[in-house]
Amino acid sequence: MAIVEWQACYSVANERLDQQHQRIVAMINQLGEAMDTGAEKAALMKILSDLAGYTKTHFADEERMLEQCSYPLLADHREKHAALNRQLAEYYRNFYISSRPQTKEVMSFLQHWLYDHILEQDKAYTLYVAKLASS
Ligand SMILES: [Fe+2]
Ligand SMILES: [Fe+2]
Repeated sequence: MAIVEWQACYSVANERLDQQHQRIVAMINQLGEAMDTGAEKAALMKILSDLAGYTKTHFADEERMLEQCSYPLLADHREKHAALNRQLAEYYRNFYISSRPQTKEVMSFLQHWLYDHILEQDKAYTLYVAKLASS
């Protein structure tokens, strides 16, 4: 069973960014499934590394779009992305050095991040961009 289900209300009204968010959701589910089925540490690390890499790409794309729209909260949004990148790198390090990686903590963090970041911070720019497009 998927840990996180994508829903239409998560949309940020940008097809490319929506697709990237959906891929992030799929990767979080993949990681959760691998943890539930007792996958080897190397397999978990590979998924986590792919997730961290893809997230960086997504953040860069999102920031570029927000820059083009002169989004007033961009600096703050950028900082939140940087903090998430740092946290993912930290979990990756933890996986690397630990014989018992913090799998539950990682999943809990990822689920909260998804809801807090996509549903609040990303949704906040949706309104701004929509207003810009209609003016
Ligand atoms: Fe995003
Ligand atoms: Fe974002």
